[in-house]
Amino acid sequence: MRVVLVGAVLLALAGGASLKELNVSQPERDVLSGRVIFSTICLRCHGIDGKGDGPMKFTPPVADLTSPAVQGKLDARLFKSVHDGKKNTAMGAWREALTDDEIWDVLAYVRTLAPEAAGGMGSGLR
Ligand code: HEC
Repeated sequence: MRVVLVGAVLLALAGGASLKELNVSQPERDVLSGRVIFSTICLRCHGIDGKGDGPMKFTPPVADLTSPAVQGKLDARLFKSVHDGKKNTAMGAWREALTDDEIWDVLAYVRTLAPEAAGGMGSGLR
């Protein structure tokens, strides 16, 4: 009897929760560990603020990670760019060096680089 009751309550809860609240596909990302990865690997090209003004220059130029061109892309799209790299550019594939989790963490950090107006923090975690 008790089991039946609990089941009914669970069903009621599941029915009431919206799809957005059931965020199962995207577990909490570790922005702090993403920041460490960014400063160790990505900063030398993308620069401390992610604006593409790091010490190393390339043609085509390093992407400005704070720009709408980058921030406007979906997470899955950016994941692919970091995972597989960008053909014929200096942006290499990081799938060997980083686990999928690490790529998601560094992308969570990249999202903090977006200007405040675009929902980011402007300059990452300082
Ligand atoms: C050797 C230099 C270099 C390093 C290191 C580097 N990048 Fe890039 N990255 C680039 C360049 C160049 C581009 C622009 C590619 C293009 O023209 O599409 C770019 C583009 C990007 C983009 C935009 C992709 C898109 O789809 O628009 C993201 C996001 C990005 N890098 C993230 C990272 C992250 C995260 C790291 C560290 C794991 C990293 N990059 C390391 C050079 C680098």
